[in-house]
Amino acid sequence: MVSPLESIIIEKLTEIVGGQYISTDDADLVSYSSDFMIDVFLKPDVVILPENASQIAEILKLANENNIGVTPRGAGTATHGGSIAQGGILLDLKRMNKIIEFDPVSMIAVVEPGVVYEDLNRVTGKAGLWFPIEPPSGAVCTIGGMVGNNASGLMALKYGTTKDHILALEVVLANGSIIKTGKSVLKSSSGYDLVHLFVGSEGTLGVITEITIRLIPRPMQISTAFANFQSLTDAMDAIYEIRRVLTPAGIELIDLQTQRAINEMEKEQLVPEVEALVIFEIHEFSAEGLEAQKKLIEWVAQKNNCNELNWAKNDVEREKIWNARKAATVVSVRSRTSTILGDLIVPIKHVPAIIRYIQEVAKETNLLISIVGHAADGNIHYLIPFNKNESKKAFAAADEIVYKTLELGGSVTAEHGIGIEKIKYMELEHGKHALNIMKAIKRILDPGNILNPGKIFPTEKQ
Ligand code: LAC
Ligand code: ZN
Repeated sequence: MVSPLESIIIEKLTEIVGGQYISTDDADLVSYSSDFMIDVFLKPDVVILPENASQIAEILKLANENNIGVTPRGAGTATHGGSIAQGGILLDLKRMNKIIEFDPVSMIAVVEPGVVYEDLNRVTGKAGLWFPIEPPSGAVCTIGGMVGNNASGLMALKYGTTKDHILALEVVLANGSIIKTGKSVLKSSSGYDLVHLFVGSEGTLGVITEITIRLIPRPMQISTAFANFQSLTDAMDAIYEIRRVLTPAGIELIDLQTQRAINEMEKEQLVPEVEALVIFEIHEFSAEGLEAQKKLIEWVAQKNNCNELNWAKNDVEREKIWNARKAATVVSVRSRTSTILGDLIVPIKHVPAIIRYIQEVAKETNLLISIVGHAADGNIHYLIPFNKNESKKAFAAADEIVYKTLELGGSVTAEHGIGIEKIKYMELEHGKHALNIMKAIKRILDPGNILNPGKIFPTEKQ
């Protein structure tokens, strides 16, 4: 296929990256046309795999001068269409996968955006250090994508989210200039915090080319348990009580619908099928500390009518628990052709209310909505699988759930980002004035609106 971009542009782009690292072939473009689980397909005009920041600077300069959209992409595990492009240039950052520096004394790593999450931890782990986000897609997702969406994961309760570990960035701006913001220091009160303006900006303010990460010691003692509760209320009461006395690394909740799907997939009774299945993971530096935490959790769970709580006896059992949890977002959707995957968050006291509400919506609409999530920090995933003929109903159900989330003082996305799918909720969540400030920032940094256009907020005439 001939690219709709003028051939002179394609020639110039080829000069910048080399013919091997650019493609306008339909077969290549199609493979970049979707991201994880979204029912939207958008094709870029050209895919480019740059090698470094100076190439990206040249690409952006050219794109800016010619009003061509540029969409950066990591592993494409985004769930809301954030890493797909309606025409223009798609920047695949996978070649930029170098760990530039690992300083175990300062406990800092500097990486390129295409480094895969678990690859970094394999290197830092040799010195006992860790970037403690643990997204379920950690074996494939890139750190650039995590920074772009302020991703989090299974351990946010204790260790926070991506933004809590980012100290500095190198960013290529829309006009091709390269800035460095932040330092390899643990604190700074110096001016506006631009680092955290770029974190979570989904590639709409600049292309991040270097990331400085704060590492922490990897805990030596880890225990993981499956606990099953006949009632959600009991499970949440136990979680609230545990949270007031200690901070486990993670607490996950899996609903009945998801448990059934997991068992079906595994073709054996892997999980018990109760109203609320809870995973507790605790981290400690001594065996004594671990034992004390385990006893406390067991005691509180028992007090709150826990049916059964079993700690994994070894790594294999622990892995089985986490594999069941990680599969949760996949197994529930196999019965239909498409899925809406939400990542709402509410103040933690409202977790039971939002779960009950989602269950009511499921009942009323006859949709098989499953719920799984990082319950202890209030971040709940709802999965709405649907066939084409149910799509209107499914999207209406998702809207209802989001409206309820906002009514309860929550946010529409805790960790996945806005992308395309959640643009429609932005004004409702932030209000006109705050949204206008965001748009003004976007205009200052990207006056031509070339950076990941059509994401986060509706495109406007400048
Ligand atoms: C999870 C991803 C979908 O928690 O955020 O499984
Ligand atoms: Zn999640």
